[in-house]
Formats: sequence, C-alpha cells, structure tokens
Amino acid sequence: TEKTYEHIKVSTPRTGVALIQLHRPKALNALFTPLIGDLNSALHALDADPSIGATVLTGSEKAFAAGADILEMRDKTFADAYGNDFIESWSELYNTIRKPIISAVNGHALGGGCELAMMCDILYCSQKANFGQPEIKLGVIPGAGGSQRLTRAIGKSRAMELILTGKTFSGQDAYDWGLAARVFETSEQCVEGALNTAETIAGYSKIAVKACKEVVNKSQDLGVKEGVEFERRVFHGLFGSEDQKIGMKAFAEKRKAEWTDR
Ligand code: HXC
Repeated sequence: TEKTYEHIKVSTPRTGVALIQLHRPKALNALFTPLIGDLNSALHALDADPSIGATVLTGSEKAFAAGADILEMRDKTFADAYGNDFIESWSELYNTIRKPIISAVNGHALGGGCELAMMCDILYCSQKANFGQPEIKLGVIPGAGGSQRLTRAIGKSRAMELILTGKTFSGQDAYDWGLAARVFETSEQCVEGALNTAETIAGYSKIAVKACKEVVNKSQDLGVKEGVEFERRVFHGLFGSEDQKIGMKAFAEKRKAEWTDR
C-alpha cells in the first residue's frame, strides 16, 4: 500500500497499524473533494492490506479539520449539491471500511471535521481540542451526520444547544459527555494513545475484529431485540472460523493464540 498522496500522509508506525494524517496545513485541513478522495483511496487500500489491522486518523496539533472547505461550497447551487449528491462520498469511511479506525483529535474539529471524527469507530482527543458544529453561522446545517451522531453521543438537549448556537466545546467536554472514549493532556499523548489501542486491536483475529465492529455499529440502526438477534447470528457464524478454534484451544493450553485471520 506504499503510495504518496497530495493531501494526506500515510505511514505504518507500529506493526499492523496505519496512521493517516490529514495534511492540508494552509487551510487547517479544510475538507475538500481531492482530500476526501485521497482519504477514501488510502482507506480502501489499507482495508485490502492483510498486514494492517487498524488505522489511526489524525490531523495536526492545530487542527484535526476546520470543516468542509467553505470556499469550495460557496458558489454551489442546489442542482450542484443535490445533483451530484455532495458529501455522499464522505460517508464511505463509515459505510464501506470494515477495519477499525480511531480518530485522534487535536486542535479544531469543526463542522465536517467534527463529523469526520465522529464517523470513526473510536474517538480520542486532547483536552484542548476544539469541537463544534458551527454551520448555523454560515446559514446551513450539519451535512455529514453531525445532527445524528452528536445527538446519539451526547443527548438531544446538549446537541440541540450546540447545533443551534454554533458554540464550540473542548476535548475535556467531549470526554465528560461521552463523545470521546479517552482524553489526553497533550496532542502527542493523544496520537500515542490511539496508536497503542490500534496496536492492541491489530493483535487480534481480523475476522473477529471485523465482526465486533459490525455488530456494535448495527446497534446504532436497530432496536435492541433485532440488534441482539443480529449479534447472535454473527456470533454463531464465528464457530465456522479457524480463529475461534485457535483462540479457545490456546486458552485451554494456557498459551498465546496465533491467529490465521481465517
Ligand atoms: C476553507 C478554511 C476553513 C474552512 C479555515 N480555513 N477553515 N478555508 N474552509 N472551513 C482557512 C482560512 O481561510 C485561512 O486561510 C487558513 O485556513 C487559516 O485559518 P484562520 O482563520 O486564519 O485561523 P485562525 O484565526 O486560527 O482560526 C481558526 C478557525 C477559523 C477558528 C478554525 O479558521 C474558522 O472559524 N474556520 C471555519 C470553521 C467553520 O466554520 N467550519 C465549518 C465549515 S461548514 P487564509 O488563506 O486566509 O490563510 C462545514 C459544513 C459541513 O463543515 C457539512 C458537510 C460536511
């Protein structure tokens, strides 16, 4: 998967772990079509790479991403937006990528930046990260899932207040309200923490990891009864994997499992 991109940097800092860094420093990583293209292309390549188990998505210390590119959007008409289903391709990360992605959020994560962070499977941030959905200030609304994901994560009243006022909130708030799984003092610690977790995940069976991600995400779309039924069917299915036999045999023999990802 060695390939260079114009607006992102991709590396493999740990065994089994990819790091994608959004890299459009002049515009605080404002998200425009070519950057999303790079991101989708890298994510698909990593998903297909058997040596990769999990990915960390980060920005810079100053900005995870300061939103969708306002200059790119400014002159769009309804026909441009609706006709080309503007923003639809941003959901590829959530809709088609099957290996876990951890967002490590430092600096600004505003509008589409906040939404991109929330599309990831686990969100980590530093205390001083600056989250928000300020679209109201531009005469529009969140368009990449913010109204749905923020509301599910932190509750209706808080999300409504933030989306209607455009007020920002800190990384510490994100953690206190349950949007972030962990909060770190510095941005370096945040990226390191995300890489550590990604390394742990990359050490497990890729089949089981994909199944975990699939069933947890399903909880966001199904009622509890259907969700539990879905989970049970996937659980049953795993008895057809080699890794279920390997994992349980290794436990019984008190040794570490060596996964085959089959
Ligand atoms: C295009 C942007 C940008 C954006 C920053 N820049 N955010 N360009 N789109 N969203 C550019 C600035 O124009 C500037 O370019 C450079 O990045 C540095 O930004 P400054 O404003 O000079 O930095 P600073 O004073 O530190 O302020 C940082 C900031 C501010 C508070 C994050 O840039 C800001 O408010 N940005 C917009 C945030 C926002 O409204 N995001 C939501 C977008 S709407 P120059 O060339 O002047 O140096 C959205 C819709 C989502 O995301 C719906 C679908 C996805």
